Amino acid sequence: MAANPGLAAGLGLLAEILEREKARGGDAVPVSPEGVEILRGIPSMIQERRRTLAAAARVAAVSAVPVAETGAPAVEATTPPAPLPAEIPAVSPASAPASVEAVVERTEEWRRAQLNAIFKSVKQAPAPRELGTLFDTVVFASGNPSAEIVFVGEAPGAEEEKQKKPFVGPAGQKLEQILKAMGLSREEVYISNIVKFRPKKGDGRFQGSSNRTPTQEEMASCLPFIRAEIEVLRPRVIVALGRTAAEGLLEKGGALAAFRNDTHHFADIPVIVTYHPSYLLRQEAASAEEGKVAKRQVWEDMLRVMEIVGLPISEKQRRYFQ
Ligand code: URA
Repeated sequence: MAANPGLAAGLGLLAEILEREKARGGDAVPVSPEGVEILRGIPSMIQERRRTLAAAARVAAVSAVPVAETGAPAVEATTPPAPLPAEIPAVSPASAPASVEAVVERTEEWRRAQLNAIFKSVKQAPAPRELGTLFDTVVFASGNPSAEIVFVGEAPGAEEEKQKKPFVGPAGQKLEQILKAMGLSREEVYISNIVKFRPKKGDGRFQGSSNRTPTQEEMASCLPFIRAEIEVLRPRVIVALGRTAAEGLLEKGGALAAFRNDTHHFADIPVIVTYHPSYLLRQEAASAEEGKVAKRQVWEDMLRVMEIVGLPISEKQRRYFQ
């Protein structure tokens, strides 16, 4: 039987967490009772999955009718808004939610619960806090747990920290304009950041509302979370907003122009790299012409995104900025 990629990814994540703890000299990882239950259930889930696949293969062999994957069903772009709810009961980082995803039906409710479990694990995560360079407030993600398009930024700023929601400041307003031009709202997509905490300048005491770009180290400390989110969502396409997000997500350096010209994948999901909305704001402030050039480039990237997910593109949309 083919390896189960979802389970492998989940167990990989779990191994990563344990390795990190071990490297730090820890010899124990706190696991909540719910986490223990999930871990205990894994062997029987694997067996159940095997039985399901074997039965499906038998049916397919007999009837020669294609058997549906147990993966996520295609989601209409018109899926009703479904903001993430507050929280679900505690699940420790060691009970990484993605480890059970491939053996359960990937309903919206399931995705929501998994995302909330990841949210919970961000709240308890020691690694980003040990750096001492990030503020404490968790800014997780917002949007539709069944979204086909996932937007990934770098880190929250002051406004995002205040509202505990990504992309709600000026860059967020620009992102909403981009979404609107695509015929989408922010409730129809999923919006997240690599770093889940606002980066500090110095000790943060005199920072006011100013922000800073996250470091590689800060991104590395939060990478398991965005990985887990993407594993739960399994979108059709990921949009990396800006060079920093692209570098963090793809774990390689490069100029944004080079990233834009290349094709990228995260797991096997296509990644479109485009300019950060803040760059658009800066270019627009510099001059109308520079603003227009940047907008045209971002729009070219968004047309690719729309093509990947099969969103209808009108003549008018094709001709924007031409
Ligand atoms: N910039 C980002 O990269 N993320 C946010 O959430 C806000 C601004």
